[in-house]
Formats: sequence, structure tokens, C-alpha cells
Amino acid sequence: MRTITSISELRQTLDEIRFSEEADRRVGFVPTMGYLHDGHVSLIEHAARTNDHVIVSLFVNPLQFAQNEDLGTYPRDPDGDAAKAETAGAQILFCPDPSEMYPLGQAGVLTTVAVPELAGVMEGASRPTHFAGVCTVVAKLFNLVGPCSAYFGEKDYQQLAIIRQMALDLSFPVDVIGCPTVREPDGLAMSSRNVYLSDDERRVAPALNAALRAGAQLIREGETSRGIVLDVMTEVIASQSLGTLDYFEITDPLTLFPAHTVGPDCRIFGALRFSRARLIDNISASLANEVVDA
Ligand code: PAJ
Repeated sequence: MRTITSISELRQTLDEIRFSEEADRRVGFVPTMGYLHDGHVSLIEHAARTNDHVIVSLFVNPLQFAQNEDLGTYPRDPDGDAAKAETAGAQILFCPDPSEMYPLGQAGVLTTVAVPELAGVMEGASRPTHFAGVCTVVAKLFNLVGPCSAYFGEKDYQQLAIIRQMALDLSFPVDVIGCPTVREPDGLAMSSRNVYLSDDERRVAPALNAALRAGAQLIREGETSRGIVLDVMTEVIASQSLGTLDYFEITDPLTLFPAHTVGPDCRIFGALRFSRARLIDNISASLANEVVDA
């Protein structure tokens, strides 16, 4: 695996791949902010199964962090990340410095990409500038890498929906592929930020997924009342005393509009706040794509 930090070297290396005589030059791309765990690894492995070249980016993107967020303390492990990316099948690891991506500094970025219709709800409601920061960096990375396919986790389902819409609206020639959420054995969705949980918080954190599953089960049993399903999920969360519920939401899986009558096609979302960590999770009401324990 080759580690590249400059845009010019990345472009030159990718041009060599694309304009080579070889027939096999499908390029798959997995953007990340590093501190890789098995969720990231599953995306890289997925890309490696269906592409000839896999590029992983590792960039803690300052544009998507608000002033009061954890940019300065975001966990980092560049050596561990390189080892995991290589084992999972990456050929190129792109790790630019912020000054390489934003040469005039953050304030010097005058062009942003935003999908306000999808970005104002749920995560966007408490993080108003977050998704424009995500879209801007992903658009930039798509331009730099020029992948055939790019892989995103359903763990961040709203992000996935927004990037799909951005690729469609701006005609990026990229297949945006969603991959299932990888979880700890007790149901907690893997996340780089889980390291912020105290031992006690870690013990109760699976309540978020348990609540979403309780909601999904009710819907599969035929419940169609949004209010009843939201109440049941809130009761599950109330049974633990450490985390504070930020929101539960039940939406159309594509538009992310709240579903007034709920059914198995819906997507169920939740966010739970602990002292240093804020956890998010989501599942399909039909549990499609979820690994259900025997
Ligand atoms: P990051 O949080 O590092 O996540 C990188 C990718 O890994 C995202 O597509 C995310 O959805 C996926 N991922 C994270 N946890 C996962 C899990 N438990 N199972 C499956 N996939 C998981 O998301 C970002 O970085 C950034 O916003 C980025 C898209 C890189 C733009 O900066």
C-alpha cells in the first residue's frame, strides 16, 4: 500500500492507473476520518471485492466540525489505520494535511456544497453546518480521486442519503454504495467516538439500538401509529439513567420526511447524548440489512 499526502502525487498516481493499458482499472473509494474500526474495515473489504484499485482517504475534515465540537481531540491512530487499511485491501491511503485540502485555511473556502432539504432534520437540526462541511469535502475528494464507486456506511444513514442526492444533482459519475452497520456483539454500532464513553456509559449504550429494535418489532407486528412507536422507544431509553435522549424519528427512507403512518418501509433513527459522546443509530423497520441474532 502506498501512502500519499499531496494532491499532485495522488492525481499523478491515479492518472497512471486510469490511463494504463490494463483492462482492470475499476477504482473504489472509501472516505474516512481515520481511527479505523471494523465498520470502516467492512467498507474497504467491500470495495476490494468489487474494484481493482481501492483508495482510502483519512482526513479529519475541519469544515464539518462546529466550534464547540471535538476537532482538536478527535481520536487518531495513523499507524494503526495504515495497517488496517492495507490488510482490508487498500492500495492507496490518502492522508492530506488540512493545509493541503484548504490552502487558504477554512475561512478561505468560499464554495460550499449543501443539500439543505435533507440536511435540516435529525443530525442537521443540532449540527446546522455539519452536512455542508461533509458534502464539500466529499465533493472535493470525488473530484480528486475520480472513483467509479464510493462506499459509505448506513451507520450514518442521513449522510449517505445526502451524498447520494449530491452525486445525483451534480452528476458525479460515481456509484454511491451503502453498506450495513457493523455492531459490537451487544448491538452498539461501532464508532470512532465510542472511546469517549465511560465504562458505565458503555454498559448502557446498547439501549439505543435496543430501543430502535423495539420500535421496529412493534411496526412489524402491525403498529401504524407514529406516536405509539415513538413512546415505546422512549420508554426503553428511559429504563437507563445515564444517557439523555436527543431524538427518535421515523421517516421515509429516501426523502427522510417524517412518516405520519409508519410501516415496514420506514427508517427509524435515534440519537442519545452522554457526557462526552453523542451516539447515533438507525435501522430499517423491516430489519433489512441488519444482522439479527439467532
Ligand atoms: P467516519 O466517521 O470516519 O466514517 C467513514 C465511513 O465509515 C462513513 O461512511 C461511515 O458511515 C462509515 N462507518 C462508520 N461507522 C460504521 C459502522 N459501525 N458500520 C459501517 N460503516 C460505518 O463519515 C465520515 O467519517 C465523514 O463524514 C466523511 C464521509 C469521511 C467526510 O469527512
